[in-house]
Amino acid sequence: MKKIKIKVPATSANLGSGFDCVGIAFKLYNVFEFEKTENDLSFEGCEEKYANENNLAYKAYRAVCEKIGEKSSVKIKFCDTGVPVSRGLGSSATLICAGAYAANALFGKKLDDSEILEICTEIEGHPDNVAPALFGSLCASVSDGGEIRSVKFPVSKRLFFTALIPDFEVSTSEARAVLPKEIQRSDAIYNMSRVALLPYAFSSGDVELIKSVTKDKIHEQYRKKLFKNVSEVEKICYGCGALTFNISGAGSTCLCISLKDISEELSKNLVGIENGWRALPLKVCENGVQEVKE
Ligand code: HSE
Repeated sequence: MKKIKIKVPATSANLGSGFDCVGIAFKLYNVFEFEKTENDLSFEGCEEKYANENNLAYKAYRAVCEKIGEKSSVKIKFCDTGVPVSRGLGSSATLICAGAYAANALFGKKLDDSEILEICTEIEGHPDNVAPALFGSLCASVSDGGEIRSVKFPVSKRLFFTALIPDFEVSTSEARAVLPKEIQRSDAIYNMSRVALLPYAFSSGDVELIKSVTKDKIHEQYRKKLFKNVSEVEKICYGCGALTFNISGAGSTCLCISLKDISEELSKNLVGIENGWRALPLKVCENGVQEVKE
């Protein structure tokens, strides 16, 4: 095999209490093609400023090649980029997972899923987006001295997800810098108890439990200060029947859950709101990264 086309789903990390360790995959994709070349690295369809050795897709491709002792010269084509960039929907995870998956597939699948997950996590910094981008559905992950264990859970079909996407970015480093270095034991227990029941809540679709497990005391309250008019958008979501309202990853997108599709009603209510907030309905992606056969 000389080339491979693959699609990688968008992801939303944290889901409230699951800071840095829980994420969910959605049917909104970035599509890339990787073609082995003789000697050089090249890009097509990628912004000039990202078309270099620091490109995350290439970094992950090269990391896999180095591990299996293969040459990493490649042409990377950005075919379709449906995942908004720098908005908290895992666009960087799509690049990393694409690069790692492609290199492994092009050289005979010498690495297993957990080795690929570890390489992706090392580049991304946390497993919360890369695990569901690789495996699909809702994934909860534990990092144990470099080893990452991730378990995939089903998500109840009762649940409807809508992303609220503004026109501004929130930088992940800034969103991490505003977090306190230390947290109160009571806040740690608040989150730990919730994240323990989070996979069960999402699998069962138990509404009261979902409302409870998506609450958080260790990151969202600090980050909301970086968001423009987020309280207004939150109020609109609850007014349209949302059960939950969370920051997606480090933002700037937010995510709400409901028991029916409220995206159209949300869109109507968001007309005229400052900062261009738009509502995007999202369906859970059960498979994670996949080869696109043509
Ligand atoms: N969990 C990260 C954060 C974002 O909230 O900062 C995704 O890795």
